[in-house]
Amino acid sequence: MAAALRAAEIALLLAAAWPVLRVAADRRLRRLFPWAHAAALGLVALWLALVALVVLRFPSALHALAAATALALAGTFVRSRAGLRLERALPPGSLSFSRSIRSVADRRAHLRDAERFGPIFKVAQFHRPVICVVGLERIHRLLREHAPSLAPNRLPLTRDVAGGFLRYMDDETYALYGPLFRRALSQSVVAAAGPSTQDAARRELDRLASDCSNATTPPPPAEYLDRIAVDGLVRALVGLLPGTAPQRSFVTSYRTLAEQELATSLSARTRESLGPLRRVAAERADGETASALSELRRIDPAMPDTICIDNVLFTLRFASANVVSLLHWLLAMLGRHPEWGARIRDEPELAGAFVQETLRLAQSEYLYRVVTDELEFEGYRFPRGWLVRLCIWESHRSPDAFEQPERFDPDRFVAKPLRTSEYSPFGWGQHACNGVALTSMICTTVLETLVTGYRWTVSGDGPAERDFRHWHHWRPSSALRLRVTSL
Ligand code: HEM
Repeated sequence: MAAALRAAEIALLLAAAWPVLRVAADRRLRRLFPWAHAAALGLVALWLALVALVVLRFPSALHALAAATALALAGTFVRSRAGLRLERALPPGSLSFSRSIRSVADRRAHLRDAERFGPIFKVAQFHRPVICVVGLERIHRLLREHAPSLAPNRLPLTRDVAGGFLRYMDDETYALYGPLFRRALSQSVVAAAGPSTQDAARRELDRLASDCSNATTPPPPAEYLDRIAVDGLVRALVGLLPGTAPQRSFVTSYRTLAEQELATSLSARTRESLGPLRRVAAERADGETASALSELRRIDPAMPDTICIDNVLFTLRFASANVVSLLHWLLAMLGRHPEWGARIRDEPELAGAFVQETLRLAQSEYLYRVVTDELEFEGYRFPRGWLVRLCIWESHRSPDAFEQPERFDPDRFVAKPLRTSEYSPFGWGQHACNGVALTSMICTTVLETLVTGYRWTVSGDGPAERDFRHWHHWRPSSALRLRVTSL
């Protein structure tokens, strides 16, 4: 009897290593985060050593260790409740910590969760419980019906923005600045930034062509794409022309803001760098060149005030990260589907469809909200304080809206216009993105300039990568390279 109990206790202790072993055995995790994989292996080794020590040297402690482990496992099991729905009102799913670690490295994890649990399910992001919602029509309905109980998830970076960042403003402030900003990024402002963006694209691609000719492997495309995006955005938002001394000095100060982590408050150095940026932006409202700032002045002579100026600067920060990331994905997609290069060269209007399909399959991922008051939706309880992940990437794979949803097929955007309940990479409603036209202008300009003016090949494409956070965006392989030669 005692021997059987001992064997059962040892079996329990060995079984307790299973969740960590699964983390250690995860191939995606090993590839993306070798240190996390090594830490999991180390934990398993430590645990086995502890079990061996207790069994061989301190057998009297075996009962206590087994009892504590059984309690911990029971607690973990109740917390994770994979699919059991013991607490009926919560959505199904698993809050398991080890599963949450594996999901950081697995882009399709939530697609499989949705297949298994249905369109509303719970997951953990490390310690934090999150409810995922899949399906654009359902997501829109959730936001419509429960807007007062769902707040945006504020990024600490925006804490210093005078008057609050547009996305997080209180209703009264937003009622003034929201519509103002939408008008400030008008078609004419975007069109006026077109020639500078095209010049920047040519300049950077020429530079890349020259750098490629001097090296056996092309350099990473990041810095070239970044300079094009920043030049186009600074031209459109602030009105500074690329290549001029004031623009160079502005961009130099801006680099500090650009490098600031999104998840932390501004460092003293970044705060300091805001001084010159704010000064230049205030002066540019009177500039000759059409820009968001000069448009704000034209619409209302009392503008741009400090709130507008800070919002322009922080929009530049977020917009450039988004646009550079999209430009990377466009290169990856061109490499995977080079026939589209020839098609865009012959019919430049297809560049827009190529961008839309790239947003659908690659870049646009999710929006987050925080539950500020408990709510009930489709029979499930959304507890206060939980995060809600609106799963855009997964929703954009709906076979109801997209025939063969996994196929890269820009023609689908030429064939029929889609409703926002089928395709929404830029958000919707009053807080929808107001940089759609600008994003499209920069991306189509880069595509068209590349395919009409250069011979190009994309190499090194591999599995997508991300940093060790659930909310960090996926990006193409860091081995991705673009080799260009001028025609
Ligand atoms: C690939 C490019 C971009 C993507 C995928 C994107 C996506 C989005 C999304 C999904 C939202 C809604 C966020 C939410 O509801 O929580 C948003 C809001 C916003 N975007 Fe973009 N964006 C992009 C580029 C830009 C650019 C170029 C600008 C301007 C220069 C811009 C300015 C804004 C602003 C100001 C908001 C907040 C609007 C408001 O609350 O009134 N975005 N964007």
